[in-house]
Amino acid sequence: MSQELRTDYEFNQRHLLGLKDYSADDILYILDQAAYFREVLNRPIPKIPTLRDKTIVNLFYENSTRTRISFELAQKRMGADVVNFSSSSSSAKKGESLKDTIRNIESMKIDMVVVRHESPGVPHFLTRCVDASIINAGDGAHEHPTQALLDMFSMRQKTGKLAGLKVVIIGDILHSRVVRSNIIGLVKTGVEVMVCGPKTMIPPFVEELGVTVSYNLDECLAWCDIAMALRIQLERQDHGLFPSLREYHERFGIKMHHLESYPDFVIMHPGPINRGVEMESEVADSDRAIILDQVINGLAVRMAVLYLLAGGTRG
Ligand code: CP
Repeated sequence: MSQELRTDYEFNQRHLLGLKDYSADDILYILDQAAYFREVLNRPIPKIPTLRDKTIVNLFYENSTRTRISFELAQKRMGADVVNFSSSSSSAKKGESLKDTIRNIESMKIDMVVVRHESPGVPHFLTRCVDASIINAGDGAHEHPTQALLDMFSMRQKTGKLAGLKVVIIGDILHSRVVRSNIIGLVKTGVEVMVCGPKTMIPPFVEELGVTVSYNLDECLAWCDIAMALRIQLERQDHGLFPSLREYHERFGIKMHHLESYPDFVIMHPGPINRGVEMESEVADSDRAIILDQVINGLAVRMAVLYLLAGGTRG
């Protein structure tokens, strides 16, 4: 993996709305640039002032820990002026529309907007309202592109490759924006993807996205190099998608005995984890899990995305 910034590729994207709009070369270029920023994070002073002339607004209409903090930290490590907007303490509470909110913010001369919203399509909508670059930090069940990029970076960091890797994604495939972005990015870069979960959580025609389906966790764990468990959205539990959390864990939770039976696969989870549901607590804390590596890699990937969308100059 390169630890220098690549200069051999013309990256022409202005926004990051979803990986659907990015080519395999775009994706691999971001991951290569992220390798450089990951190295910067190991320095005694992990700062690189490439965004010191940029002003960025983090517009979060939905809760977040990892994504929000890592975007803010990435921006500060790169010297940007950062403004954090939280819908719960804003004039959105007084009924101000999203369009008016963003146009008012833009009139204060901003360069980039990072947005998370419960409605799919909001990042696309913002591109029609303002001139700033828009980065999707998760829009409903649609896409979460920086999560998929950090997942792909972590897979490649751990195994040394993407093409030819076997990845199973376990859980609520139907409602997850993380899985959607991951499937798009992984399939584009030559990864074999299997999805696994209760039938009620597997969308019809999912094979058309280039993945295979299994309802048998053991079969998946015997096959894969990487097992990525998704958060079960507890708010959906009363929608009848699965009988109980105990039963879900029984059939689809990764347990310590799986680590003994299948000694090679690596465990990932985008967070937040429901310990004892998607996996036993000991599994999450085991040396087979790279869940906290995903988090620090997320910082490097978001630095790379900000750098490239800002025009890719060292500053
Ligand atoms: N993985 C992820 O998006 O986590 P947050 O909701 O905490 O940002």
